[in-house]
Amino acid sequence: MFSLFRAEELFCSPPRIQKKRLQQSRSGNEYENSSCLRSVDSNLALGHYFGITVHKMIVLREGIRLEADIAREQMNKERDRLAEMGIVRVLSETHELPALPSIATRVMQITSDPKATLVELRAIIETDESLASKILRFANSALYGRVGMVTTLTSAINLLGFLTIRWLVVTTSAHTLFRRGGKPDNDHIRLWEHALKCAIGARLLAKQLSALRIEEAFICGLLHDVGKLVIMEKLPGYLTTFCKWGEALDIEFYEVEADVIGIDHCEVSGSVFENWHFPEVLAEPVANHHTPERAKQNGQLAHILCTIDKVFPLRDCTGDAPPADELAALPFMLEHSITESEIAKLLADADDVYGEMADLLRL
Ligand SMILES: [Fe+2]
Ligand SMILES: [Fe+2]
Repeated sequence: MFSLFRAEELFCSPPRIQKKRLQQSRSGNEYENSSCLRSVDSNLALGHYFGITVHKMIVLREGIRLEADIAREQMNKERDRLAEMGIVRVLSETHELPALPSIATRVMQITSDPKATLVELRAIIETDESLASKILRFANSALYGRVGMVTTLTSAINLLGFLTIRWLVVTTSAHTLFRRGGKPDNDHIRLWEHALKCAIGARLLAKQLSALRIEEAFICGLLHDVGKLVIMEKLPGYLTTFCKWGEALDIEFYEVEADVIGIDHCEVSGSVFENWHFPEVLAEPVANHHTPERAKQNGQLAHILCTIDKVFPLRDCTGDAPPADELAALPFMLEHSITESEIAKLLADADDVYGEMADLLRL
């Protein structure tokens, strides 16, 4: 039974927790039939302290109910509208998917080829002056302890190695996509911040577990939500609206997409990866990054992506990032015995690397 004591305790918690707990208890009808709500009138009549607490709970509950009803109604309307325009077909069409800049595709191919030589890689990078200068700047950064000493592209490639060059090239190319031809709006900017933080965080987590190729974790972290970019082109402003609906109904963002659009961004991201000829071991975890238990191969990468997405949530969407103690309770963190202090370090390290990369690569 939802006791007065629990109601009082509830209102001592932060608003985000209050709402979550009331939403959750509503599904179990926990307080609907509770005696404290049935006796609310008498409590209020007495001007009793508990009466006021219960009254606050009713106001909040009614607000949640109204919000959910409005959201459901709006979602129904949007579903009909999108079905009429054949949105699933539009989003599945290959020519609607973004193209990865050709230099990134060529660098991906050459760095995956064990027989490729430094001369071949340098020849590709030299064709893009701005990319070459970013690689030189990166090699001369404090990160590698050779400030001002690396003067040629050959020595930069030698110092950084093929795999680091690969993620640098993919990062700068991905940034071009997220910049939307130099006209990014706020949604593109916050999606890019989320992408880069998830990439850095996924790389740090993979490194800590030492069970994965860390560059793969970085690339998948960076591009896991590329499907959202595709959907945003067709439905501008959908990020904010779908987040709001998800919050009102206490369901995940991708569940709102599946309900309203009929396809979610994970599936679209997977199609983009296939279209770019990325290997299946990367495409599958990305296509399942919110449902990692469904990934048949590279499941650990899918779990890392799912977890890191909660560590660095999209700004202005699901509220503030959860504190380290909440993150330490995530199943993946528990399974790998990642402690609260290790998570706090992960957050701080990711922030540092983010600042350095944004600065060095002029992102
Ligand atoms: Fe996602
Ligand atoms: Fe994400």
